[in-house]
Amino acid sequence: MNESTLIDMRNIRKVFYTHELETHALAGVDLRVDRGEYVSISGPSGCGKSTLLSLTGLLDVPTEGSYTLNGTPVANLSANDRAQVRNREIGFIFQAFNLIGDLKVLENVEVPLTYRPGISRNERRERARAALERVGMAHRLNHYPSQLSGGQQQRVAVARALVGEPSILLADEPTGNLDSKNGEQVMLLLNDLHQSGATIVMVTHDDRYAAFARRQVFMFDGKVVDEDTLEKLREQEDRRVRELVSQSEQSQTMALGS
Ligand SMILES: Nc1ncnc2c1ncn2[C@@H]1O[C@H](COP(=O)(O)OP(=O)(O)OP(=O)(O)O)[C@@H](O)[C@H]1O
Ligand SMILES: [Mg+2]
Repeated sequence: MNESTLIDMRNIRKVFYTHELETHALAGVDLRVDRGEYVSISGPSGCGKSTLLSLTGLLDVPTEGSYTLNGTPVANLSANDRAQVRNREIGFIFQAFNLIGDLKVLENVEVPLTYRPGISRNERRERARAALERVGMAHRLNHYPSQLSGGQQQRVAVARALVGEPSILLADEPTGNLDSKNGEQVMLLLNDLHQSGATIVMVTHDDRYAAFARRQVFMFDGKVVDEDTLEKLREQEDRRVRELVSQSEQSQTMALGS
């Protein structure tokens, strides 16, 4: 690991236990992200992208493996310590925006700073206003989220993610709830932020948007794979589905006696 490494995850495993079922959501993932990088994570539904992102953002802990964030080992922190590190280091952008409906735009963006000691009310306001300016939303400070379009809400959510000057922005399907025009605007915004130095990890289904990132990471079945392997695995999966469909068609035809 060197100075420029921001995220260093090794052999990360995550098992979810529900009823008598074990789900191996991550089966030994290594992920390294340098300061200033823009990385996308893509792969089929259920392959573990959101799980990996929430571990990266300290919303959850790995079952096994090591994780160093900005020089600090964080895999075994208590929930309290995790929340503190998260507030300082991480800005999250979610598919569903997750703004607080009863708070105005400016107040929503102030929220992360209210958990920081030593920031006055005035400074909080000013920093929130500046973050909203960066995302082109300074003209809607006193609106409520429900009074904004989806694209505008996501820009406010980006401002909230930025306001605490975190080390890294994590985005999980940030365009998933947006039409293509608004989706593109949010992608251009992330691009601008990257160009002005932000480190970004973004999960996306959409190949067009994955290509905005400077490095693409592909996942399949809880593992990081290279692009060619992913292509082969996808083809295998498609073949298997086609076989199942044709078997089911055959048995239906037989059942109908035709
Ligand atoms: N809290 C949980 N409890 C039990 N199983 C879970 C939990 N969260 C995720 N899983 C399982 O872990 C696997 C990976 O889920 P994850 O949400 O990371 O997938 P994903 O790649 O983000 O999928 P999508 O593209 O559909 O969002 C899935 O099989 C899922 O059912
Ligand atoms: Mg997901």
